[in-house]
Amino acid sequence: MPIETTASVVAEAPGEPELLAVPYASDLSPAHPVELHLPVPDLLEHYEAKGEAGEVVEVPVARGDGVGRVLLYGVGDRSPRALRRAGAALTRKVKGKDTLTVVTPGGDVTAFVEAALLAAYSYRIGKAGKPAVRTLAFAGADEAQVRRAQVVAQAVALARDLANTPSSVKNPAWLAERAADTGVPVKVWDEERLQAEGFGGILAVGRGSASPPRLIQLSYTPDGPYDRHVVLVGKGITFDSGGLSLKPTDNMKTQKTDMAGGAAVIAVLGALTRLGAPVRVTGLVAAAENMPSGTAQRPSDVIKHYGGRTVEVLNTDAEGRLVLADALAYADVVLDPDAVVDVATLTGAITVALGRNVGAVYSSDDALARQLVDAGQTTDDRLWRMPLVEDYAAALKSPIADLSNVESGSKFGAGSITAALFLREFAGERPWAHLDIAGVGRSTVDEGTLSKGATGFGVRALLEWLTRI
Ligand code: BES
Ligand code: MN
Ligand code: ZN
Repeated sequence: MPIETTASVVAEAPGEPELLAVPYASDLSPAHPVELHLPVPDLLEHYEAKGEAGEVVEVPVARGDGVGRVLLYGVGDRSPRALRRAGAALTRKVKGKDTLTVVTPGGDVTAFVEAALLAAYSYRIGKAGKPAVRTLAFAGADEAQVRRAQVVAQAVALARDLANTPSSVKNPAWLAERAADTGVPVKVWDEERLQAEGFGGILAVGRGSASPPRLIQLSYTPDGPYDRHVVLVGKGITFDSGGLSLKPTDNMKTQKTDMAGGAAVIAVLGALTRLGAPVRVTGLVAAAENMPSGTAQRPSDVIKHYGGRTVEVLNTDAEGRLVLADALAYADVVLDPDAVVDVATLTGAITVALGRNVGAVYSSDDALARQLVDAGQTTDDRLWRMPLVEDYAAALKSPIADLSNVESGSKFGAGSITAALFLREFAGERPWAHLDIAGVGRSTVDEGTLSKGATGFGVRALLEWLTRI
């Protein structure tokens, strides 16, 4: 479900509030002037407040015959990071309430509002949990900033919803329908068309499933003039059982989110019109379900990708790179973009390297890598650039095909790097970047802007990059 909380802007804070949030700084002074008949510094001292972002002190106040409540909230050093923490803490504090009026900390409130909305997200089937606050009314805030925050937060929520949807519901055809729901023009390759045009990687991965694969293309064209065309490619494995190289249960049970990259691409394309991005963007989602069956591909099969390159499949659980290779080759040969960025829950190995809070970016192009890292820093979709170690390219040599999909021995290791090197073979000579989001695509905690399950990672960084390009 989308975020059920609405953000609105009101001219000023009410004199006798029912529920009002007021910021304070690290020195416990008000972070924004507001007429409150309260001994604020004394109260904060009494409650041993420190002024840190995320702190919320609740104070009852007289209101007519009844009682209202003021939430004093810390804003720390007022950095976007601190304001995100503050915004999220407020929303979590007022779960189940109707309206919270928020006196904002001043300055740019985009990050603050965005985080407050994201903290309201939950994915529920049935009646689990308390509903989120209905309205957040930001007093005196900039309309355009609040609107942008709302569009971005809803895009993240869409990506989370798609990834949280059980795989019994979301097969590749379903994902194509959701792409069409965004309202941007969509083109879908069904299995016949994939066959006719030579998308051997997507077909091979989808062969074991009763739900056939799809390649989904979404197109955004700016209203005004533009001079750049970017292609975003998303991994859209609607369930990754591993195929015949079957995963153990514990590893398999999280794999409904293996289309989180594809979900991010769909959500980004959907939001570009609303944000008025100045670049042409084409999204490609390579969607398949990786299942074991009598029709599944086998370890040792050789497949032929779009464009004609052959690959020896030594492990059917390294399926993401197989579907992405087709889409990357198609982007290179047919779409003629200025840059290609793929987003994929590609390897468990990247979680070992960077953990659950930082995603990986690999790139053949220093400027592109820098832009993405910067966009990630600004939006809190944190990215760290990883190296494409040339020596390790030898890991993917095959004696019978152009490449193998995994290293056959264990001489090289570096599972996330070798996966990136595999993808690079299909991106052509274009500026290309690859985001490995296997570690950050899911959250194990329900705190701050995160809820358990899909995170929507990548949506904010990509939207930032594409709209401020
Ligand atoms: N979808 C997985 C990667 C993954 C693992 C995502 C854990 C999220 C959480 C991917 O398709 C996969 O299975 N990768 C293998 C590659 C290996 C067979 C070379 C892996 O990481 O084990
Ligand atoms: Mn896999
Ligand atoms: Zn996978």
